[in-house]
Amino acid sequence: MILVRGGTVVTSRWSGRADVLVDGETIRAVGLDLAAGGSRVIDATGRLVFAGGVDPHVHMALPIGGGLRSSDDFSTGTRAALSGGTTTIIDFVTPVPGEALERAVEHRLVEAAGSLCDYALHVSVVSWGDRTADEMKACVDAGYSSFKVYLAYKERGLGLADGDLLGVLEAASALDAVVLGHCENGDAVSHLQRRLVGRGDRAPRFHALSRPPEVEVEAVGRAIALAGIAGCRLYVVHVSTAGAAQAIARARAAGQEVHGEVCPHHLVLDSGCYERPEREAAAFVMSPPLRPASEPPQLWNALARGTLETVATDHCPFLRRDRERDLADFTRIPNGVGGVEHRLALLWTFGVGAGRFDASRFVALACEAPARIMGLYPRKGALEPGSDADIVVWDPDRERTITAATQVQRCDTCVYEGLRVRGRAETVLLRGRVVVSRGEVERDLAPGRLLRRGPGQSRPAPQATL
Ligand code: URP
Ligand code: ZN
Repeated sequence: MILVRGGTVVTSRWSGRADVLVDGETIRAVGLDLAAGGSRVIDATGRLVFAGGVDPHVHMALPIGGGLRSSDDFSTGTRAALSGGTTTIIDFVTPVPGEALERAVEHRLVEAAGSLCDYALHVSVVSWGDRTADEMKACVDAGYSSFKVYLAYKERGLGLADGDLLGVLEAASALDAVVLGHCENGDAVSHLQRRLVGRGDRAPRFHALSRPPEVEVEAVGRAIALAGIAGCRLYVVHVSTAGAAQAIARARAAGQEVHGEVCPHHLVLDSGCYERPEREAAAFVMSPPLRPASEPPQLWNALARGTLETVATDHCPFLRRDRERDLADFTRIPNGVGGVEHRLALLWTFGVGAGRFDASRFVALACEAPARIMGLYPRKGALEPGSDADIVVWDPDRERTITAATQVQRCDTCVYEGLRVRGRAETVLLRGRVVVSRGEVERDLAPGRLLRRGPGQSRPAPQATL
């Protein structure tokens, strides 16, 4: 048994002085002055104690063609996650053309077995045919109860036409599964890319001009409309614009179940990064791109008010040499940035530290809501008797500077390079095992556990407006 003693427990609903007693893999009790008995005691005096972070959107070892993959595999990326206080990740299964969904899951499970934190998988549905609904049912029956659809990337064989999208949404609705939508109008993006490239505007900074806010706002509106027709629960990934957040708020006010996620890079960075010299600007190529400085404050407001409910990283780093292969054509630069390690510190520093919301909202955004929406709650995302003993002892005041030179995630660049942050995961427990102590990840870690899930247990989200 382990007793986490003397800290301030923070949940989404309350915070206060309490001890946490861990028995094996689960939490046995949360309360004042619990008896230590023969337990190992972790002193949390002056620290916050909350449920392990849940990052519902990461891409470890993501294949993007040409033999190239994102630079963190499941082992290195989840080591980084643990170091930052995240104990559960949800990655993706992406079928190759013609591959049945169940087969694609089997293949991805082999790679995911390297995970050092607990993990689940969303299944991307990249085509619609006679067998797709049955394949989706087989996935849900096997514990994969969330699907991803792309409204962008038709050229990469991922994007769905609207009719096919509606088919997936209807099938998911019948299974009570949640659908994650990457919402950018892919046809409009392709058109703008062709026009920019055709007139010689190929530098990394033109990436942002090929994906203006309107392509997101339009696609979010369309996804909401189709999900409404299908009666399907929708989760919009990486919301980057106030316009998209407003569309979500309107849908929810009208009674539709729509959730919105935002990524740290869209909160703390802006499109000014694309004005840097080409090599540096290439490091910020991600989709959706960084937005003008007027947008992040509105996203923060949407998080504080409840319009946007989760903060996830879309962790997808690439090594400098892989990004810089095709500097002369922004459409060929790998899309994605890393952040799984830095999510909690960024949210703590620029959310709670900047007075935008309190510690309970921080826990809701980073731990509880992702677990709830994705069908993991209260096993994950909760600090309650019976929950998995995934526990973060958080030093709220510890200051440091983020730099690629010292980060755990496997990447030689970091979009947060030089940012000063507060807050550190001092001790982390994963199912009752200490995996981080004094801020350092333990050397030898047991494998993480695959989490099979039922349908989400999302409660109606607050009907907030911007
Ligand atoms: O730029 C992004 N979002 N990269 C991650 C992979 C993807 O496109 O979903
Ligand atoms: Zn993604």
